[in-house]
Amino acid sequence: MSRTLDQLLDRNVVWADNKRRADPDFFRRMAEQQSPHYLWIGCSDSRVTANDVLGLDPGEVFVHRNIANVVHTSDLNILSVLEFAVEALKVEHVIVCGHYGCGGVRRAISGERGAIVDHWLQPLSMLYRKHAAVFGAMENEQKRLDRMCEINIGMQVRRLAATPIIENAWARGRKLHLHGWIYAIHDGLLRDLGPHLSSIEERDALPSIDQYVIDGPTDAQSAAMRQAVAVFAAMPVCEDGGGPACCGGHGAVDEAAGAAAVREKVRVKAR
Ligand code: CO
Repeated sequence: MSRTLDQLLDRNVVWADNKRRADPDFFRRMAEQQSPHYLWIGCSDSRVTANDVLGLDPGEVFVHRNIANVVHTSDLNILSVLEFAVEALKVEHVIVCGHYGCGGVRRAISGERGAIVDHWLQPLSMLYRKHAAVFGAMENEQKRLDRMCEINIGMQVRRLAATPIIENAWARGRKLHLHGWIYAIHDGLLRDLGPHLSSIEERDALPSIDQYVIDGPTDAQSAAMRQAVAVFAAMPVCEDGGGPACCGGHGAVDEAAGAAAVREKVRVKAR
């Protein structure tokens, strides 16, 4: 074995020792079984590691990664991971997480061809070419890349939702939620970009990826922002349209209509 890798083995010993000191039963529990609640489908980028950015321990998230987090419905690798996660591990959430500044997405929109990776990225490059007018109207290359990184997530969640594995789980009444998130390397934070899908009906009601491209960007919500919107949605709303903040002094409220209006707003944001 190469001597140059000894440092990695040394670091492993330190890591395992620290784990054992903090939690003497940790490795015994790990050896018995894994029971993650989440499947993470992310990019292979070395800076976007699921456990780290989610703050989770080993055993808490099942992971599939590939270049630009693409869901190919003919890819036995991702389909095997997905089937095992849904059917055996019974995960409740599948998170497609892309990231800004993705090299795979940059390659897809570069127009370069001739490498294996260009076959892999073909759905992305085709979508980009199809909507050349939309992207051409953007002010610079950075905007085009950022937007395409976001669109890629919308595209992959749609492709995921179309797999028979997910469809069958939903048809059987399984509680299974698909999420589209994006990670920003510059601040280490995840944003909920949507869509969020929990049923065949929600999937079928989702606008097409082409429509999503044409409609333009929606606000990606941070966890703090989503929490604020949820609190806002739970508050009663005045009939006079004064908004939830003025409800304290008014008797007349229309809770159902108010909450429905906010839910609609959230739905549009999450699209
Ligand atoms: Co990437």
